[in-house]
Amino acid sequence: MNGFHEDELQEKPIDLHIFRRLLKYARPYAALMVFCILLLMVVTAADLAQPYIVRSALDGYINAFKIPYLEVPRDKIPPGAHTVSWHDKTLVRSSDLSQAPPGATHYRIVEQHGKYYLVQGFAENGNVIIETVDGEIVARQGEKLLKAFPLDPDELKRFRARDVEGLTRLSLIFVLILFIRFAVNYVQVYLLQYAGQNIILNLRKEIFSHIENMHLSYFDKNPVGRLVTRVTNDTETLNEMYTSVLVNLFKDLFLLLGIIIVMMRMNFRMAIAALSVAPIIAVATVIFRNKAREAYREVRKKIARINATLSENITGMKVIQIFNREAKKFAEFDRINREYYLATMRELQVFAVFRPFLDLVYYLSLSLLIWYGGPRVIRGMLSFGTLYAFVHYMGQFFQPINDLAEKFNILQSAMASSERIFQVLDTESPIKDPSDPVAVGRFRGEIEFRNVWFAYEGEDWVLKDVSFKVEPGETVALVGATGAGKTSIINLICRFYDVNRGQILVDGVDIRDMRQSDLRRQIGVVQQDVFLFSGDIKYNIRLNDTEIDDEKIREVARYTNAHRFIETKPNKYDEEVTERGGTLSAGQRQLLAFARALAFDPAILILDEATSAVDTETESLIQDALEKITRGRTTIIIAHRLSTVQHADKIIVLHKGRIRECGTHEELLEKRGLYYKLYLLQFKENRSGTN
Ligand code: UTP
Ligand code: MG
Repeated sequence: MNGFHEDELQEKPIDLHIFRRLLKYARPYAALMVFCILLLMVVTAADLAQPYIVRSALDGYINAFKIPYLEVPRDKIPPGAHTVSWHDKTLVRSSDLSQAPPGATHYRIVEQHGKYYLVQGFAENGNVIIETVDGEIVARQGEKLLKAFPLDPDELKRFRARDVEGLTRLSLIFVLILFIRFAVNYVQVYLLQYAGQNIILNLRKEIFSHIENMHLSYFDKNPVGRLVTRVTNDTETLNEMYTSVLVNLFKDLFLLLGIIIVMMRMNFRMAIAALSVAPIIAVATVIFRNKAREAYREVRKKIARINATLSENITGMKVIQIFNREAKKFAEFDRINREYYLATMRELQVFAVFRPFLDLVYYLSLSLLIWYGGPRVIRGMLSFGTLYAFVHYMGQFFQPINDLAEKFNILQSAMASSERIFQVLDTESPIKDPSDPVAVGRFRGEIEFRNVWFAYEGEDWVLKDVSFKVEPGETVALVGATGAGKTSIINLICRFYDVNRGQILVDGVDIRDMRQSDLRRQIGVVQQDVFLFSGDIKYNIRLNDTEIDDEKIREVARYTNAHRFIETKPNKYDEEVTERGGTLSAGQRQLLAFARALAFDPAILILDEATSAVDTETESLIQDALEKITRGRTTIIIAHRLSTVQHADKIIVLHKGRIRECGTHEELLEKRGLYYKLYLLQFKENRSGTN
């Protein structure tokens, strides 16, 4: 493990403090989210209504013929009651009467072998059998024989006209509810995703702009891959939390509570029977949660390892290939990949047990319902519709429980992700703009180091008590061995880092007292390792500055001789370069960077080994150009080849972070010190090189 993504392995408990902070991001969309919750209540109500309607259809209409009819004298019929005329009698369904008139005859419709009969005098519950006794159709109920009249289809239709009507009405309501549910659900999902995506959009913006303004030493400590994950993966995890957990938690709660309440009100004992499996669910969920968490952590650990290995190997592919390390690296990857596979399989196993187990419990609850409710339906103590509704409600009851585990995982990783995101957001850059910045115009270009001490890390001094002054318009060269601290001096002038002790003044103003943008706008730097962005050549010179027109680009390119190689490209200035400029040679990249630095017409120009990668001919051309462009500009040149710095107004010789010598080429040679030694060495090298 190379510590690349180690921070992703930490497991975070659900922390209220973090949670509150996450809610803060949702605040601009709070109204929307509350609205979504309301919509979800409508959806839940629709879900709850469906079994209820089916139950009404079953009990109120489809099975309604079982309700007895009473023969009521015409003048006793309550207004609005539905009546059926049959054999010059008027029958009213008993459920329409608040009170049965005393002495009224009961009738009941009985179905046998697909035929319907009206049985007279049949009042109580129980079964009758239709028989033919002496050529007459009768209904036998135990010892009793009752009169039975076969109903022809027309008559049956009349008896059931009202049920058919009612069923049609219920079906319409059912369909209507389905459509309303669909529409409301659509709006809710859309709005919720809208809110979620916007929260994440803003969060990504915030993270990126925060990273953008971070001091450079932050990037020394935080690998690219990690920061990329912050902006992409971690925010996506949060999106999932906002959209599928936060609001849907309410829905699940509504649904569970709603089902319990509706079931309790429908039939308390049945509800108890159905819910008696709840403790099993609770225990299973707790066990599962623990197992799943462990498995999940393992998977995260392995994927982090894959990420680290991949990003390192892909970045270093060239080295791998040069040293024929492919097979070895493949074996390494193969092992890590297999570990990841195994971890994933283990996680799947946990899920593979939990889901079917919940199914088992669900079917158990169904058997309980049928065992308890079935006989009661037969005995007429429970309506068939109610039994049906319970079966349906239990199905709905298990849905959110099934998802519970997943939501818990999302919540868990959201906590970890947000903690990491906040860690980035909470890291303040120590390099800040002053609260009351000194207004600076165009620099004259005077640079002064006053007793500057600097270390990248702790007391590991890279620059020790460095003092020097560059007059406006002067060209100063920094020379010294590798690691002497030359590039560090440049980093300090640009204020990529702050000095530990001492002061850096530009035009007599401490650079910490001016805005970073004011300072950097006037400094043009050609760095040791040129970075190009993906885009065309023009874009890489202009860098979004619209004030630099195409003519200016051509002009600076001609100055720096970049023009010549650009013209050889098929698309000239519109030639695409890939990220890091892989399609250009090192020298071409350097020329381009040179043009880029000049395009901004900086008051201070800094060239860090700018000529190290170009051939002698190009270098001499650049030297020519330099003479033109350094006029009226302070220039700092860093070069290993002393031949390129001979004409500098001043040469500063750095040795192990200290200034050892300072003067013109001639003065330094006369001194016969370090510079002289370096010069002799290179001189000899050149001589032997040409021999
Ligand atoms: P410099 O990068 O200033 O050296 O590093 P230099 O003079 O330009 O060297 P060349 O000629 O380009 O090779 C000075 C010291 O600062 C340390 C390096 O280890 C070196 O010893 N350093 C540099 C850091 O600790 N962190 C950095 O990010 C860069
Ligand atoms: Mg350097």
